[in-house]
Amino acid sequence: MSRYWSPVVHQLSPYVPGEQPKIENLIKLNTNENPYGPSPRVLAAIRGEANENLRLYPDPGAMELREALANYYGLDVGQVFVGNGSDEVLAHIFHGLFQHPAPLLFPDITYSFYPVYCALYGINYSAIPLGDEFELRVADYVQPNAGIIFPNPNAPTGRLLPLTEIEWLLQQNSESVVVVDEAYVDFGGESAVKLVDRFPNLLVTQTFSKSRSLAGLRVGFALGHPELIQALERVKDSFNSYPLDRLALAGATAAIEDRDHFERTRGAVIEGREWLANGLTELGFHIPPSAANFLFASHPQRDAGELAAELRERGIIVRHFRQPRIEQYLRITVGRPEENAALLAAIKEILR
Ligand SMILES: Cc1ncc(COP(=O)(O)O)c(C=O)c1O
Repeated sequence: MSRYWSPVVHQLSPYVPGEQPKIENLIKLNTNENPYGPSPRVLAAIRGEANENLRLYPDPGAMELREALANYYGLDVGQVFVGNGSDEVLAHIFHGLFQHPAPLLFPDITYSFYPVYCALYGINYSAIPLGDEFELRVADYVQPNAGIIFPNPNAPTGRLLPLTEIEWLLQQNSESVVVVDEAYVDFGGESAVKLVDRFPNLLVTQTFSKSRSLAGLRVGFALGHPELIQALERVKDSFNSYPLDRLALAGATAAIEDRDHFERTRGAVIEGREWLANGLTELGFHIPPSAANFLFASHPQRDAGELAAELRERGIIVRHFRQPRIEQYLRITVGRPEENAALLAAIKEILR
């Protein structure tokens, strides 16, 4: 606290990211990063940009990357917005589209950055309880609102909402913006991108951090009606005209172009998830069906906080949220086969 702070700063409770410890031989299954490296074509493109031109500002319109994304999703460039990680894209969405008198709606168990943005931008919200198995019940979202946002698959539960239900939600809420945060959709979901041309109130956000294995590069994007995209452009150009640097633009464009690498690595993650889910289920864990690159697992006899601590002693970190309804769950990122096997072996030993 300081008398020099602006009043809003006193009211913030900043987001706490999963830790990034510098411990050797750590098995890091706590922040939903991709266990496989990015495409070699991405690395080559970034190296190719590390030259004299770094003295020049990057393209503020990020045209090449936006064109690559528009091409990939069958959209126009005016339907694509890019930012410094989808966190920044989300921040602009909260700032530019959700500040209205009615409350913003999102699930009670969801990406914990949403309430943080609400505090930053003075947005009033209502957290709508998920069902007993963490399912999102679309009927609960038919009430006056300033907008609706939810991840699909949801985080940290991994549960997927079918596209037909998203379509129904969009029809019921034609007066407000519905944002589907698809950070994990490439690991098993059907993207709502195909609804973008039919619903001017739909925005879909995605990231290069997960399925493209580029969490360190910080690139995310939104797809939607040009009027929604223009709002985000206006906020961006009132905040930072160059959120993506030359290296990020080159790397992300190359990532979109390397479909082979994308398909291969996401297939391996999905396979790893199924293997791990079977193994954990055999050990007595309860796991809601996951369409993401992580599992949300609870053991009926063992305290989740203690399990996380014991795994940590064995050099394996997973995410545990001390939060009502989910304090007995662990969020476990799918790793490489040998990491998944080490996790299962460690849990077997702990449960013995
Ligand atoms: C649901 C969800 N949305 C958005 C993000 C932000 O991703 P990034 O800022 O790395 O694009 C995350 C990160 O974990 C997430 O879980």
